[in-house]
Amino acid sequence: MKTILITGGCGFIGSHLSLFLKKKKYKTIVVDNLSIGKKSLFRGHKFYKINLQNKKKLEKIFEKYKFHAVFHLAGLSKLTESFKKKKLYEKNNILSTKNIINLVKKYKVDYLIFSSSASVYGRQKKFPINENAKLKPISYYGKTKLICENIIKKNSQKKTFKAVCLRYFNVVGSNFKSKLGEVHNPPIHLVPIFVNNLLKNRPLDLRLNFKTKDGSGIRDYVDVNDIVNAHYLSLIKMKKISKFFIAINLGSKKSYSVKDILKLIRKKIKNKKIKIIFSKKKKGEPDKLLASSNLATKILNWKAKKNITHSLKNMIAWEKYKISVKSY
Ligand SMILES: NC(=O)c1ccc[n+]([C@@H]2O[C@H](COP(=O)([O-])OP(=O)(O)OC[C@H]3O[C@@H](n4cnc5c(N)ncnc54)[C@H](O)[C@@H]3O)[C@@H](O)[C@H]2O)c1
Repeated sequence: MKTILITGGCGFIGSHLSLFLKKKKYKTIVVDNLSIGKKSLFRGHKFYKINLQNKKKLEKIFEKYKFHAVFHLAGLSKLTESFKKKKLYEKNNILSTKNIINLVKKYKVDYLIFSSSASVYGRQKKFPINENAKLKPISYYGKTKLICENIIKKNSQKKTFKAVCLRYFNVVGSNFKSKLGEVHNPPIHLVPIFVNNLLKNRPLDLRLNFKTKDGSGIRDYVDVNDIVNAHYLSLIKMKKISKFFIAINLGSKKSYSVKDILKLIRKKIKNKKIKIIFSKKKKGEPDKLLASSNLATKILNWKAKKNITHSLKNMIAWEKYKISVKSY
């Protein structure tokens, strides 16, 4: 049984990944500081509460296990907060990644798979966005992701380990059956915010000054179960990939406006009384995101399979469950 380290494994995507890899018969070791994640979402074999900034404590885990691969998902990802707390984001996202890379090298781990983001692209004009587009993040969060990608690239080219940076677009859905889903409370992502407000009779904030057809932001939504499958495929295909560094988009090939998404949610949660407040886009938000996933198909034989209706249904079920459980 190969042993895998998952950082951020008690968060939204990391918890789904732990369960997925466990089912594929990997021994999954999870490290999370629970700053956001919840222990109740832990689905691996062994859990360690460690802050990745603490290299000494982290090294003990590398001494104890011989890792085949590290999936580095841990990070802070709030757009507005990233502008206000740059030092925190620098330490938490960049320093942590440097610690991971140094240990990956020192303990001769073969593979590193990093959670990057569409935010590295910033504002683009050509769609769908492919991996060769110029990288020009417009949020500090996006900047930390790009800096991490560059450090990983530089180090992997010394050929001691192979690295894949997976650039996720907007991740949605849940594994409601296994009681896994978005963990942030209060929610930070669009769908959980809309669902929560509709269920709790709170006003909806609709930002309408994007340069798009209907004025709301356009995004590419991809299901969390498709995302974790791409991680697994990265792991098993990497041996055959000759490159030591590769960045791959994970998107669904379809885009929806925020207004479209709200319409779809309101079909499932009927609350006619809800008040809508119209506001302006936040700093760091691009008008449109739509990924080309051709490289993911070519290299990983991956494409998004779950449709938006399926993802929204599971996400709504999960948010209803969260509301019903006091610990959230
Ligand atoms: N959710 C998305 O739509 C999306 C899109 C693009 C990229 N990403 C990236 O994917 C990764 C996972 O996203 P998510 O939605 O699961 O986020 P999440 O916030 O649900 O999970 C992140 C986890 O990392 C942990 N963590 C943060 N800093 C840590 C530290 N210093 N030491 C140990 N643990 C730490 C948190 O406690 C949390 O459990 C993040 O790096 C995020 O930036 C997410």
